[in-house]
Amino acid sequence: MDWGLKNRLSKTISPKTGKTVMLAVDHGYFQGPTTGLKNPKEDLPKLLPYADSLFITRGILRNCIDANTNVPIFLRVSGGTSILGELSNEDITTSMKEALRLNSVGVGMSVFVGAKNEDRTISNLGRLVNEAEDVGMPVLAITAVGKDMVRDARYLGLASRICAEMGAHIVKTYYCEKDFDKVVEGCPVPIVIAGGKKIPEKDALQMASNAIRDGAVGVDMGRNIFQSDKPVGMIKAINAIVHKNVSVKEAFDIYKNG
Ligand code: 5RP
Repeated sequence: MDWGLKNRLSKTISPKTGKTVMLAVDHGYFQGPTTGLKNPKEDLPKLLPYADSLFITRGILRNCIDANTNVPIFLRVSGGTSILGELSNEDITTSMKEALRLNSVGVGMSVFVGAKNEDRTISNLGRLVNEAEDVGMPVLAITAVGKDMVRDARYLGLASRICAEMGAHIVKTYYCEKDFDKVVEGCPVPIVIAGGKKIPEKDALQMASNAIRDGAVGVDMGRNIFQSDKPVGMIKAINAIVHKNVSVKEAFDIYKNG
């Protein structure tokens, strides 16, 4: 791996623990003002000290995040669709030059395996990796899953492996109870899990703990943190699971203490 790419990656995946807590706040790029993220300027600063990086679009970064922040920026560079239309109709919307200008440590895009535009999104990932490797920029590929698709190890394993084959440096996918270790085993690059829809805090902590146990290097989690009644407690608890391997019970206490 090129020095620059390795160095950027080390800003997200801690060289000390080999793990990462990415805070995903990009949801507005297709769903508009999202519960818990309606006012990013107010909602986000308190969470940043506990995140290893922030997964965000350029618009919210520029308008809502202080440029003096220390949190490394992982930039979402795909979009072009909304919840009102065909979600797989995404393209690359933000240039590599812009990612460099914003001092990003990585770029991310969604890939829609099995959806209407799977071919275009998979090819776009290959092209993004070509551009990113020229400048030493890690690429995170997100396996977007359609509403009517089953999130099982077979599908998640297929989608994750395709992302790695295209050259992604990290893959973000969903956790599945059965055989998640096989998803990890079949993917030669680090895997982080998305949290998905808001679920009870204890269940979200258990999911993060199971994912780490099964080989994930961390989370790129959004709603289960910023939609919690105690978002700071929740990100601290997730951080303790990911980096300190605390039990779910201990993590739940951390959450409760806010
Ligand atoms: C949306 C995304 C989000 O970043 C991802 O879903 C993570 O957030 P959450 O934990 O809320 O699922 O990529 O396409």
